[in-house]
Amino acid sequence: MTVRVGVIGAGIMGADHANTLHHMVSGAEVSIVADIDPSRAQDVAGKIRGSSATGNALELIADDAVDAVLIASHDSTHRELVLAAVRAGKPVLCEKPLAPTLAECVEVVAAETGATASMPLISLGFMRRFDPGYLEMKQALARGAIGPPLLTHCISRGVSSAPGATNESSVTGSAIHEFDVLPWLLDSPITEVSWHAPRPSGAADGFQDPQLILLRTADGVLSTVEVFLNARYGYDVRCEVVGETGTLALTEPAKMITDSGRARSVGYAADWRPRFADAYRIELQAWIDAVGAGIRSPLASAHDGLVANAVAEAVIASMHRSGTVVAVEVPTI
Ligand code: NAI
Repeated sequence: MTVRVGVIGAGIMGADHANTLHHMVSGAEVSIVADIDPSRAQDVAGKIRGSSATGNALELIADDAVDAVLIASHDSTHRELVLAAVRAGKPVLCEKPLAPTLAECVEVVAAETGATASMPLISLGFMRRFDPGYLEMKQALARGAIGPPLLTHCISRGVSSAPGATNESSVTGSAIHEFDVLPWLLDSPITEVSWHAPRPSGAADGFQDPQLILLRTADGVLSTVEVFLNARYGYDVRCEVVGETGTLALTEPAKMITDSGRARSVGYAADWRPRFADAYRIELQAWIDAVGAGIRSPLASAHDGLVANAVAEAVIASMHRSGTVVAVEVPTI
């Protein structure tokens, strides 16, 4: 069965996902693209044979030509659009975060739990779970390659922040990837957090950048998370796990080294798309395979999204309490 996907949001991620679905994922076609800016929707749909454009996301969700919905619009739209997809009984892959606030996540998870569908409809775009590097680290940890883990060091750097970035959106929009991938990697939930601020970079426009977050998981591992949105030199995501008998670290950013002019260099991407291209493609294929087969999606769930937001909320509470340690409380639904 070919899964006809409606893509909502024709910005950076929506255009990228539509292109990946069309060219690199088997069993999928992009039937409709929606954006509140119809010209953007048209630009993306126009590059995909058989795809049409609309300015109305809710009409896309209701359309019979859409079997499954991919939401890549602004974070603030996720709650309403995911709820509409659940009401329509259609599988939906929502980009992270599930919603900007924990209260909204609770509402979405409760709606999914109360829906009549035979299996959960919501998948969440925490694509690092599909990144070959992170997967290799998880497998190495599971087979005891470095003994029990003690510490992890995580770094998320970008070239420049999006307009309107705030202290809080750095946490809910960027650090949130770490709040999902770390418990997944260590197989242990985050139990307490604290937030810390060095002298802000001159490139940060009115908000704290970089930020340093400490996370403790139930297994006692302590993790440092640096989020630096205006690092300028390139997009750079690092992760190192320190164990009792060794360490594991991701080798990205580059797959090629240049030796020239008596110097050795590797390149950095300008944003996340090249770094995580494999992860996005593998994630989308896994989602389409599950939707096509009518089985439960192996992607992060709505509840995983809620848990990550519970961590984000605790980090923001620490931010507003001068970095005191705050316990993570995950609401039960
Ligand atoms: P963007 O700003 O480039 O694109 C968002 C698009 O959504 C815009 O074209 C905007 O007009 C459209 N839009 C806004 N409200 C809408 C509505 N109600 N209906 C239809 N379209 C609407 O943003 P970007 O970078 O593409 O991010 C999109 C989503 O993807 C965000 O939720 C973001 O957090 C997430 N994201 C995920 C990443 C990942 O690695 N998994 C990386 C970057 C972004």
